Amino acid sequence: MEWDVFLAPYKQAVDELKVKLRGYRDLYEIASKNSPIEFVTGRVKPVPSILDKAKRKGIPLDQLNTQMQDLAGVRVMCQFVDDIRKVVDLIRNRTDLTVVEERDYITKKKKSGYRSYHVVVQYPVQTVSGEKKILAEIQVRTLAMNFWATIEHSLNYKYKGDIPMDVKSRLLRAAEAAFRLDEEMSQIREEVWIAQQHFLQKNVDEE
Ligand code: GTP
Ligand code: MG
Repeated sequence: MEWDVFLAPYKQAVDELKVKLRGYRDLYEIASKNSPIEFVTGRVKPVPSILDKAKRKGIPLDQLNTQMQDLAGVRVMCQFVDDIRKVVDLIRNRTDLTVVEERDYITKKKKSGYRSYHVVVQYPVQTVSGEKKILAEIQVRTLAMNFWATIEHSLNYKYKGDIPMDVKSRLLRAAEAAFRLDEEMSQIREEVWIAQQHFLQKNVDEE
């Protein structure tokens, strides 16, 4: 397997999607609106992880392009839970990609406590041998969800997927705390918003 050659279009897709999604921040700023996107990261799955997952899931290496949806992975971080559906709408409405699958782990979190909204897209890359449509997984989550997922991921790595019970239950409680943090922040935003409306109305009344 010539990994560099095989993964090149995936690298290109990740780079392009990062630029395109980061671009919204400036567009919102120019429109004097709050950006639903805080920051964007991306990566091509490292070869050892590809081999690992292929073995675990019984995916033949010649079917990676169709069977492994996250060879190209992009992550969009939002301040507020409400921003997530705004970002998902932005993605759905793009004409330079096609959404092929959505997985909502926000209304229904995973057993581990994991929350995020996953959108799998088909994205066309212009390669040396013409256009190639590749799959990419875009994970949309709040900063709190990202904090939790990052810590849980490194613990999984440390314990090789076999996290001790006591650590697991702590992680579940941490997930609960992250959920409450997201709720509190949404409440604060709503209250600030209502206060601003009153303020604007008062100015109008006084004019
Ligand atoms: P994978 O074999 O991991 O791709 O699972 P899947 O095909 O069922 O897809 P799923 O949408 O469940 O997960 C895809 C990606 O979401 C993973 O590669 C992780 O980045 C993330 N993810 C899913 N579950 C968890 C979790 O419990 N903890 C953390 N930290 N990340 C998760
Ligand atoms: Mg997957």
